[in-house]
Amino acid sequence: MYNTMPLTQKGTRPNSHAWLKQAVFYQIYPQSFCDSNGDGIGDIPGIIQKLDYLKWLGINVVWINPCFMSSFRDAGYDVDDYYRVAPRYGTNRDLYRLCREAHRRGIKVCLDLVAGHTSIDHPRFKASSRVGRNRYSDRYIWTSSAISDADKGLSLIQGNSERDGGYVANCFPFQPALNYGFARPDQPWQQPVDAPGPLENRKELIKIMEYWLGHGVDGFRVDMAFSLVKLDPGHKETIKLWQDIGQKVRAHYPDIALISEWGNPAEAIAAGFDIDFMLHFGVGGYPDLMLNENCFFRRSGGAGIGNFLKSYLKLAAKTKGKGLISVPSGNHDIKRPRADGRTVSDLKVIFTFLLTWPGAPFIYYGDEIGMRYIPGLESKEGGYDRTGSRTPMQWDNGTNAGFSTADKERLYLPLDPRRNRPNVEKQAGSPGSLLNHVRRLIALRKRSPALQAEGALIPLPVENIDRHFAYLRQAADERFLIVLNPSATPSSVRINGIKPDNLSPRICHGAQARVEGDDIQVNMVGVSYGVFKL
Ligand code: NOJ
Ligand code: CA
Repeated sequence: MYNTMPLTQKGTRPNSHAWLKQAVFYQIYPQSFCDSNGDGIGDIPGIIQKLDYLKWLGINVVWINPCFMSSFRDAGYDVDDYYRVAPRYGTNRDLYRLCREAHRRGIKVCLDLVAGHTSIDHPRFKASSRVGRNRYSDRYIWTSSAISDADKGLSLIQGNSERDGGYVANCFPFQPALNYGFARPDQPWQQPVDAPGPLENRKELIKIMEYWLGHGVDGFRVDMAFSLVKLDPGHKETIKLWQDIGQKVRAHYPDIALISEWGNPAEAIAAGFDIDFMLHFGVGGYPDLMLNENCFFRRSGGAGIGNFLKSYLKLAAKTKGKGLISVPSGNHDIKRPRADGRTVSDLKVIFTFLLTWPGAPFIYYGDEIGMRYIPGLESKEGGYDRTGSRTPMQWDNGTNAGFSTADKERLYLPLDPRRNRPNVEKQAGSPGSLLNHVRRLIALRKRSPALQAEGALIPLPVENIDRHFAYLRQAADERFLIVLNPSATPSSVRINGIKPDNLSPRICHGAQARVEGDDIQVNMVGVSYGVFKL
């Protein structure tokens, strides 16, 4: 008999917004989604043109990668002006219109907030780099000498300005860290979190958030949210900082979604975020599922679901009732799931998992049709090997796959060159396509509380050698059994002690389940999935 104690329960989460429980997110990389004016770069009017598609798919929230004025050395994660949409994407008015048009269709809009650093071209950084003291001198982190002062664990850029000092960079050298202070300052140039510079930066961040929220935006995905306070063991001060910001912003906008790129849901949710991701960094889990050589979703992979499940269950226990964990299909920083030889059949198993799993599902644009990771592309705007996950969306069979009317050479990035590259139009018309599979799964999730964010998860026991995974989801008197076999080898599983009155297949391929005595017997061919209503 399995222990059927729910691991997650219906919400006692303080930040709980009803809409998040049913949310299905879609991540849009704006430069690659839809080009409305033929300049080769996707834009906001292009996103507006595709809202009906997203609604058809069942999406109810979009997250748009950074769309502000930028020097684009890191695809927009180097912001020059947080209050202005980059002209290549349109105008602020286009963004306000996007919010209105999305809301008309029941879709919310989240922006990407690069909270921890600006670009070196931001006027405030330029002022901060000057020799004489000015009101921006302490808005970035400067050491007291351009020659010495190297410090543990911080990336110091020296010799780029006449100001005597080095600045701390967050990621690339052109991304100077904003000064939110140090948890335990132990050098004269390290300021405490409540010094005037750090407090001004905090105020500015709130101002930016409220500016866009005032124009109809519904929330933010916060870039590197964990990084704000420096040399902060356990991120204790960073957690307090976000609690403070969240409280202030939510006082005016209680229903917003705050999503963190933290990579540690236990910390991020304590900091007041509604959702944090399991990613390729941080406490991990995602690589065991999708990326490692022996990850679970691989036909020949050696490991079962055990490694992922262990990390997930630990995090789920720590965040239970307080916030959501997201396992995304992919994102702009990692290889698409359609890589390493995976086919559309493999992706169907993956999406069956993603869309029946608790928390908040995020679909990276194009994953729903199985767009490929394109290896070997020349790096674009600091993409390096991430560039292959950022190619133009494939809408149809027409010129440039319907992405743009520009000459091929002017496209932001080249398209998948293969003749049989997947596209939306073709898959929409084909009942057995990946796109229609994803659409059916979203529809089932949206009408079934058991499958939503806070429905209980009851994983059925797995052995190290298991190449399949079975689990129950339940809420009130609704219960589903989900079985997955991503491996090429047939598999069977006997589930003891559950004797449903009813066992009806909802979304299945190659998996059969029947009640036998007091048990359920499930047989699966290779690469199969089944969602059964009990
Ligand atoms: C995380 C973003 O997802 C990534 O694309 C970016 O390069 C870094 N943060 C720096 O902002
Ligand atoms: Ca354009």
